[in-house]
Amino acid sequence: MVLPLLYTLENMVNIKNVLVTGSNGYIGSLLVPLLKQKNYKVWGLDTSYFDDPECHFKKTTLPDKFIKKDIRDIKAADLKNIDAVCHLAALSNDPLGEINPKLTRDINLTASQKLARFAKKVGVKRFLFSSSCSVYGVMGDQEITEESPVDPKTAYAVSKVEFEKSLLKLADKNFCPVILRNATAYGSSPKLRLDLVLNNFAASAFTANRINILSDGTPWRPMIHAEDIARLFVALLKAPTDKVAGQIINCGRNEENFQIGEIAKIVKSVFKKTEVSLAVNPDKDSRTYKVSFNKLKKMLPEFKFKWTLQKAVRQLKTDWENNPPPTKVLTSRNFMRLRQLNHLIDNKRINQKLFWHHD
Ligand SMILES: NC(=O)c1ccc[n+]([C@@H]2O[C@H](COP(=O)([O-])OP(=O)(O)OC[C@H]3O[C@@H](n4cnc5c(N)ncnc54)[C@H](O)[C@@H]3O)[C@@H](O)[C@H]2O)c1
Repeated sequence: MVLPLLYTLENMVNIKNVLVTGSNGYIGSLLVPLLKQKNYKVWGLDTSYFDDPECHFKKTTLPDKFIKKDIRDIKAADLKNIDAVCHLAALSNDPLGEINPKLTRDINLTASQKLARFAKKVGVKRFLFSSSCSVYGVMGDQEITEESPVDPKTAYAVSKVEFEKSLLKLADKNFCPVILRNATAYGSSPKLRLDLVLNNFAASAFTANRINILSDGTPWRPMIHAEDIARLFVALLKAPTDKVAGQIINCGRNEENFQIGEIAKIVKSVFKKTEVSLAVNPDKDSRTYKVSFNKLKKMLPEFKFKWTLQKAVRQLKTDWENNPPPTKVLTSRNFMRLRQLNHLIDNKRINQKLFWHHD
């Protein structure tokens, strides 16, 4: 009886101080309050690309400590006393990554590698990385597992695959990397994003009673609410080391693989007047992937997802109806990452390498 108990205790990491990189983003601004609720001491680190007042959709919760810093300038000292890192900072989706593939590599891969090396060096015990199911690229209708070969189609997806590999190489008995290959996020957040398929359709239905699908509606996307991603980060921080060390985990659930056309239908079921149209000349984005989430289910059988697509659309509708935003707000830079970055560049606040001019 004694041995299994000791074994279990050894596997429970004692994590108190958690650093969230990208703490001010769409997912980060949901993760910070959740960690604080669970009594972790939370450090946030972010370069603050999306911190203009117009980019705030709802009130944000501040971390216990905040470091305004570009991860390309990370120092080992920034990680002093940190027990675990949740690494979210990135040029964070496929279109954003295409601004400049070299910058995507510099931030998402090279700077992340430096962060991970420093983390291991200073004694961080657990390093959770926010990767993406877009590493799977074009997979057609077959169901993808973590064992399937990756097929990254964009600079963003390539950066995710390469950082995953280098992170896993650092694994040892004291340093536990865990990779969350997240599905496409949706739903409300203090830092709302409308450049994500469900939120984009919902905003378009709300403001114009229209959804223009840029493809023929058939591509598959696995979906997950941003808050459920944040909840999975917390669950994986707590999970016993032997269960999660060095694991790649698809994060989402089997019931939430949808074709783009179905996503539009769900939005229409809430915004009933919406007219949906398909592209005459479908755009060249050929990504389509249907993902199996059986591993996550087996690994965290007690984890309950809080959201569905329909519930999330209803939440967005309520948010917008209770506090009606001007139409312009839902179509301008406020919640569109690429537009906000271009705005910062055009106004000479950040340079072409995306460093702040005053840095
Ligand atoms: N949203 C999704 O659908 C989704 C899906 C899968 C994976 N992910 C991954 O999860 C993570 C978080 O995504 P998100 O949707 O919250 O993105 P986001 O763009 O909303 O937030 C990213 C945050 O990182 C910060 N950042 C960017 N470059 C930085 C740098 N060089 N130094 C310091 N901070 C920097 C930004 O200021 C921003 O606050 C990303 O790594 C993303 O690739 C997101």
